[in-house]
Amino acid sequence: MIEQPASPFFLDCDTGIDDALALAYLLAAPNAELVGIGTVSGNISAAGGARNTLDLLQLAGHQDIPVAVGAHDPLVGSFRGGAPHVHGANGIGEVELPTSNRETVSESAAELLVRLANQYAGELRVVLIGPLTNIAQALRLEPKLPELIAEITIMGGAASAPGNITAVAEANIANDPEAAAEVLAADWDVTLVPLDVTMTNVLEEGHRQELLATDHPMAQALGGMLGYYFGFYVNQFGRACSAMHDPLAAAIAVGGIEVAIAPIVHVEVDTTDGPGRGQTVCDLRGLYMGFPEQPGARCRVVLSLAEEFAPHLLETLQSDWFPEAAAQSVSTLDQEEAVLSGR
Ligand code: BDR
Ligand code: CA
Repeated sequence: MIEQPASPFFLDCDTGIDDALALAYLLAAPNAELVGIGTVSGNISAAGGARNTLDLLQLAGHQDIPVAVGAHDPLVGSFRGGAPHVHGANGIGEVELPTSNRETVSESAAELLVRLANQYAGELRVVLIGPLTNIAQALRLEPKLPELIAEITIMGGAASAPGNITAVAEANIANDPEAAAEVLAADWDVTLVPLDVTMTNVLEEGHRQELLATDHPMAQALGGMLGYYFGFYVNQFGRACSAMHDPLAAAIAVGGIEVAIAPIVHVEVDTTDGPGRGQTVCDLRGLYMGFPEQPGARCRVVLSLAEEFAPHLLETLQSDWFPEAAAQSVSTLDQEEAVLSGR
């Protein structure tokens, strides 16, 4: 078998429990090479998300990937303080990780993205799992960005599922509707991974226990974080489990999981100040005809999967993907000393 070189990926995130899972997934996926990470305010401030990202990268033994702090505030208005009830005050479910001694790069997330898009012209794949402020800023900085980037995958929106911030708006879009509108109107094809598919592919308590029992610190830390996340989702699902928003978007972006229903349709973002603000208005009128082509449409909206996601996620996270971190767990990272308090 001829081995394919891994594609370069840029991750933009608001790290966040499910963001941490997406980051781990991208580090583990054999066909992805993470070349840069930007952070944005969402679940936590952009600066707090960067700190979590650096600590997670250290735990995973990946000290080489540049992390850039991005937008603190959305394009319009101000950051509203995050989602401590969902992700904990520190963004990662109150799990305390060993502190990385690495700093963020001096570029902003938008600047780093533009630089990497030029460096990997035509090859860079971008996965966006937070509000879309950074990429909207990058589009303003480099109008040729659509020509430079190979693929865009966004976790966000709700096509026909209910929203999770308002009746119709999902968090990543609701936190910066103006940015989302600009990004979805730009000259590129986009894959949108909305709540329709992320709320119907969940991780159960048994999966979490498997992560906790895995013999490396990253898997155990993720298992700890999920304990907090499950505490939020128990009120949505009535049992200990959680949605898998961000890792699912990452898996779809790297082609690790097959989608079933994913029509290419027109999508507009509601930027009014009414009750629809932040809604992704997806034109699903082709539903009863097997989604015939919509001329000019450029947004592939993933509505369902062809296979179960949780086993794939578990298998990827348990693969032998970070020997350096495993070595660290034996030598310096005494489990009693590293307080993974969410366990
Ligand atoms: C999205 O919002 C954030 O809270 C999650 O990390 C995910 O990206 C889900 O609506
Ligand atoms: Ca996120």
